[in-house]
Amino acid sequence: MTTSHPAVTDPSVDHALQLIVTGESTGSSCAPELADGPWLLDAPTVAPGYGPGASQADPLPLATPRQQVLPETYRTATETELHERIRAAKETLGEKVVILGHFYQRDEVVQHADFVGDSFQLARAAKGRPEAEAIVFCGVHFMAETADLLSTDEQAVILPNLAAGCSMADMADLDSVEDCWEQLEEIYGTDPDDQGRAPVIPVTYMNSSAALKGFVGRHGGIVCTSSNAAAVLEWAFERGQRVLFFPDQHLGRNTAKAMGIPLEQMPLWNPNRALGGNTREELEDAKVLLWHGFCSVHKRFTVEQIDKARREYPDVHVVVHPESPMPVVDAADSSGSTDFIVKAIQAAPAGSTFAIGTEINLVQRLAAQYPQHTIFCLDPVICPCSTMYRIHPSYLAWVLEELVDGRVVNQISVSSDVADPARVALERMLAVVPTQSAAQSAVTQGATK
Ligand code: 13P
Ligand code: SF4
Repeated sequence: MTTSHPAVTDPSVDHALQLIVTGESTGSSCAPELADGPWLLDAPTVAPGYGPGASQADPLPLATPRQQVLPETYRTATETELHERIRAAKETLGEKVVILGHFYQRDEVVQHADFVGDSFQLARAAKGRPEAEAIVFCGVHFMAETADLLSTDEQAVILPNLAAGCSMADMADLDSVEDCWEQLEEIYGTDPDDQGRAPVIPVTYMNSSAALKGFVGRHGGIVCTSSNAAAVLEWAFERGQRVLFFPDQHLGRNTAKAMGIPLEQMPLWNPNRALGGNTREELEDAKVLLWHGFCSVHKRFTVEQIDKARREYPDVHVVVHPESPMPVVDAADSSGSTDFIVKAIQAAPAGSTFAIGTEINLVQRLAAQYPQHTIFCLDPVICPCSTMYRIHPSYLAWVLEELVDGRVVNQISVSSDVADPARVALERMLAVVPTQSAAQSAVTQGATK
C-alpha cells in the first residue's frame, strides 16, 4: 500500500521548512515566510500581527507588546554559532538560570531547555526552582505570566521574544468578560441556592491573561489546563450551579460533553452580541457557558483528515488535543493534553501507528524520537503555532548573554493587584485532586474506542 507519510528522522520543523522553500522537499507549508528569521517582524515599521503560521489571520489586540529589534549579531549568527553561544552562556550562569520549554517550541530551542513539558507541568516547574535567579520561559506570554505568579518575588521571569503571545488567550479580554459577568448577574442574580451553590463559577483555561486569572480568583473561580479540565469542572460544579468557561470553547465543550452535559445546555457566548447571542431562556437553562474562543492551530484538524489516515493505515491510533473541534475529538481514538499524547506514544508497543492532532513541532519531534513507530500529523501542511515559533535560538542567545552581563531583558512581571487574586485561582487548581468520576471521564476520553 502506498502512503503519504514518509518517516521523519530530523525533528526540526525549521529544517523541513527550509527544504520546502528551496524546492528540495515536496512538502507544503501554510506560509513560506516561516523559514525567515522572526526578527523580520520586529521592526517598528512592520504592521503588528501574530506573524506567519496558524494564527496569522486572527485579529491582534492593540495593546499587544512589541519585541525590540534584536541586535544584529544575533540576527546574522549561524545555527551552530547560536548553539555554542547558548551553551556557553548557560554554563557561565549555572544554577542561576533555569530554561523551561513548552512541547511546541522549535527543536533548536527545546534542546537547550532544562525542563520540557505541557503548560501544567511547566507551571509546577516554575514553582519548583526557587534557587534560580532567572527563569527563561520558552513558551508564550500567558505561560511566562503564570511562571511569574508562581515563582518567588526575587526571581525574574524572561520571555525571549515579547511578541510570543497566544491568539486564543487574546480572544478573551478583561473588559468583555466583566461585561459578560454583569449580564449574567442580571439574569441569575448573585445569591446562592439552597445548597449554597453560587449562580455561576468562572473557569479560565490556563491560556488566558493574568488579568483573567485574577478575575476568576476574585469571583470564586479557578484555572484549568487541558490535563485537569474534567477535575476542575467537577470542583466548579460542587460550588456553583453553572460554569462560565473561557476562552476555549472546544476544550470546554469536549470536557463537559465527556461529563455527560447535553450540548443544548452549553450555549456559546459571543462577546460582541447582547446576552452573548442567546435568549434569556437559553441562558436560564445553561450548565456551561462557552466563550467564543478557539485555537487556530487545532482548528485546522478535520474529520476528513482522520478518515484519510484510517484508509491509509487501518491500524492507526488517532490522538488529538482537546482544543480540537468536537467532531474531531469524537472521531479520534483518544484525546488529551500534550503530555497525554507524549505518554500514549511512550506506552505503545513497537510498530504502532499514530496520527496526531496537535502542533507540528511536537509531532515531528515524537516521530524522530520513536522510530519504532509510524507517527505523523493529521494536518499534511506544515503550519506551526505562529507565536510559539517566534521564540528562535537567536532570542534565547540574546536574553542569556544579557543575563551573563548582569542585565535582565524582556522581564514578565504581573502587578500585585492582579497577581494576588490570580495566584488564588492558580493555587485552587494546583490543589484539585481528581475525583474518581473526573479521572474516569479523562480515561474515557483517553481510551481506545
Ligand atoms: P497543553 O496544556 O496541553 O500544554 O497545551 C497548551 C497549548 O497551548 C495547547 O495549544
Ligand atoms: Fe495558543 Fe493555539 Fe498556539 Fe497553544 S497552539 S499557544 S492555544 S495559538
